Amino acid sequence: MEKNSKIILTIENEVATILISNPSKLNALSYSLLQDLEKKLDDLKQSSAKLIIFKGEGSKAFVAGADIKEMVSFTPQQAYEYIKYGQKVFTKVSKLSIPTIAVIQGFALGGGAELALACDFRIVNSDALFGFPEVQLGIIPGFGGTQRLTQLIGYSKSLEIILTSKRLSGEEMLSYGIANEFVKNGESMDDVIDKWVSSILKAAPIAVKMAKQAVQASETSSLESGLVIELMCETVCFSTSDCKIGFESFLERKQPEFKGE
Ligand code: CAA
Repeated sequence: MEKNSKIILTIENEVATILISNPSKLNALSYSLLQDLEKKLDDLKQSSAKLIIFKGEGSKAFVAGADIKEMVSFTPQQAYEYIKYGQKVFTKVSKLSIPTIAVIQGFALGGGAELALACDFRIVNSDALFGFPEVQLGIIPGFGGTQRLTQLIGYSKSLEIILTSKRLSGEEMLSYGIANEFVKNGESMDDVIDKWVSSILKAAPIAVKMAKQAVQASETSSLESGLVIELMCETVCFSTSDCKIGFESFLERKQPEFKGE
């Protein structure tokens, strides 16, 4: 692993932060960093975290892609294994049961854009630059970009971004439907993140997980099967103490205090 490159996991007040730290390469992801990321995702399963924030070290980059210096000598067989592994790790990110937010300032290119797309939400500022330079390197986005970008914004816009390698600014990410929130100059990124965090943490934790699972089912299921999954998730919610707390609090006109059970 590159000296000083690591994935740092911290958990505070039920919020986990995963920091991708490889500053001398603009947080580029090597094979070993991907392995470290996978390990941290596994560690999170045992934790009390209710939400995960993904960030890159420093203000210059979220993640500038897969590590090109490492890939340059790959045989097709090694590339196959590496790309397959990257897909597996990013799919793990996308399947986390709790909500995930990518905070993007600076470059989110190639594998960095793909990591951001594997998250549920993207909060960006005016320094954000998002794009897929891969075809200029003779390859294509391989950690899920061709699929997740297309699911998010549709065929034509997705192919436009991938074939032109254009870099979208934070504002453009918002207008393309890639970013959920654009933090304007002068606004505080931390304040915006805090608002997102507090509104999600206020909700009943099991309902949050069930909602995520049901919405995700819409991407892989027919409407008919998706409705069955929604029905099951809703029935789980009705079996929780938090559902009773939520209904009673409404009727008593007070704020619910959910227990997560
Ligand atoms: N891999 C390895 N090293 C990288 C890197 C990457 N993806 N991105 C940046 N770096 C390194 C640079 O080589 C440089 O290292 P040295 O100081 O040792 O030369 C250091 O980070 C700083 O970068 P620059 O000097 O280039 O900084 P800049 O501000 O002039 O440019 C940049 C920034 C536009 C992001 C430029 O670094 C760049 O184009 N990086 C590559 C982006 C890219 O092509 N990403 C896609 C990779 S392929 C991929 O991700 C495949 C996939 O889907 C799985």
